[in-house]
Amino acid sequence: MTVLCFFLVFMNVDLFLKTGHCAETRDQILSITPKTQEQVDLLKNVSTQYETSLWQPVSPQYIREEAQVHLFVPANSSETVKDLLQRHAITHEVLLANANELVEMQMRNDSTDPRSSSTFYERYHSLEDIYDWINRTTHDNPNTVKAILVGSSYEKRPLYALKLSLNDRPNKKAMWIDCGIHAREWISPAFCLWFVHYSLSFYKQNADITHILDNMDVYVLPVMNPDGYKYTWTTNRMWRKNRSLSKRSACIGVDLNRNFDANWCTEGASHDPCTEIYCGAFPESEPESQAVADFLRSHKDSVQLYLTIHSYSQMLLFPYSCRLDEAENHSDLLEMTQEAAQQIKRYYRNIYKHGAGAKTIYLAPGGSDDWAYILGIKYAFTFELQDLGRYGFLLPPSRISRACNEALLAVKVIAQRVLEKT
Ligand code: ARG
Ligand code: ZN
Repeated sequence: MTVLCFFLVFMNVDLFLKTGHCAETRDQILSITPKTQEQVDLLKNVSTQYETSLWQPVSPQYIREEAQVHLFVPANSSETVKDLLQRHAITHEVLLANANELVEMQMRNDSTDPRSSSTFYERYHSLEDIYDWINRTTHDNPNTVKAILVGSSYEKRPLYALKLSLNDRPNKKAMWIDCGIHAREWISPAFCLWFVHYSLSFYKQNADITHILDNMDVYVLPVMNPDGYKYTWTTNRMWRKNRSLSKRSACIGVDLNRNFDANWCTEGASHDPCTEIYCGAFPESEPESQAVADFLRSHKDSVQLYLTIHSYSQMLLFPYSCRLDEAENHSDLLEMTQEAAQQIKRYYRNIYKHGAGAKTIYLAPGGSDDWAYILGIKYAFTFELQDLGRYGFLLPPSRISRACNEALLAVKVIAQRVLEKT
């Protein structure tokens, strides 16, 4: 079979790929639901021993009976992995038979490709393009947009936050939005770009965004993890962490969303640099998290609302994620996310879960939202954008507009409520 496959691929015989034969020559996403503890253990093994990438849950320790596992299996491990599953009578469903094609589609759409008819904001962009976009946006809007250098990454790339200030009333409040903490979540930077573009285009056109921008400045950090993002474009599309080297291990990268000082590195994070949820050597050990923390510390009197954008799983989360008990304004936060989720359902017929992080997904200490909350920013949220796993991190460009509009609606609802309360 394998020999035949290589031949067919070599001959460019598309049909075989489309019909699902020859799957071994393509990267795939499998959905697997373990039924017994033995199957759970085997899956944990597969996801750590083989060259695969776990999409869901975030770390093998969370694999449990009757819960769906989404696993990215590169072509060269496909046969081995499927054999193993078969031998243990574990059934799987192929979510994506040809992930390579999707990856190509997402990158092809970059810059001025004439093959792409969609607009700039309905495509994914390379890091270089995003830096260019930052330049252009500040240049074209000299009175309303400023780029603030908030720090630099481990590999010394600049971290620019855009400050949108559409109205020069004194003593305005502010909100902060960061995108791209996790490298492979491409819809997240796309959302930050979308949000800036929407704000600049619809100020004085749309009543909601006008009201928000009249009363708040907005800081937008489009790519908090530029080294990781770059790496997903050049080398490994499934990379999550930043790219910092560890003193004690050959494994690279810290999970920036476990690196903040909020019950740092307790249950739900790991001291092992080889895991996807490595918390780093100490809180704010990473220049990226330190930059954001420094900026928020020095602006905490004006910043009333903190938002951080992730994907995937369609959730609107709020503190705490680092402990099980309720935040002091839990019912406010719950009400806001409930209203946002209702609006999304009403306008887009899409379901978003909502609630405190620890109870809605899992304990995840060291997250930026909890840290901002503990700092005193009482409205702090993590959005997990589309989808539910059909495409996962490989959400096609054609879905960007829907995904961003849903999230935009949630931002509007929540920002309006924050304005009423403060
Ligand atoms: N999927 C996100 C992560 O694993 C969830 C973040 C929720 N918030 C948090 N503070 N952990 O990082
Ligand atoms: Zn994430």
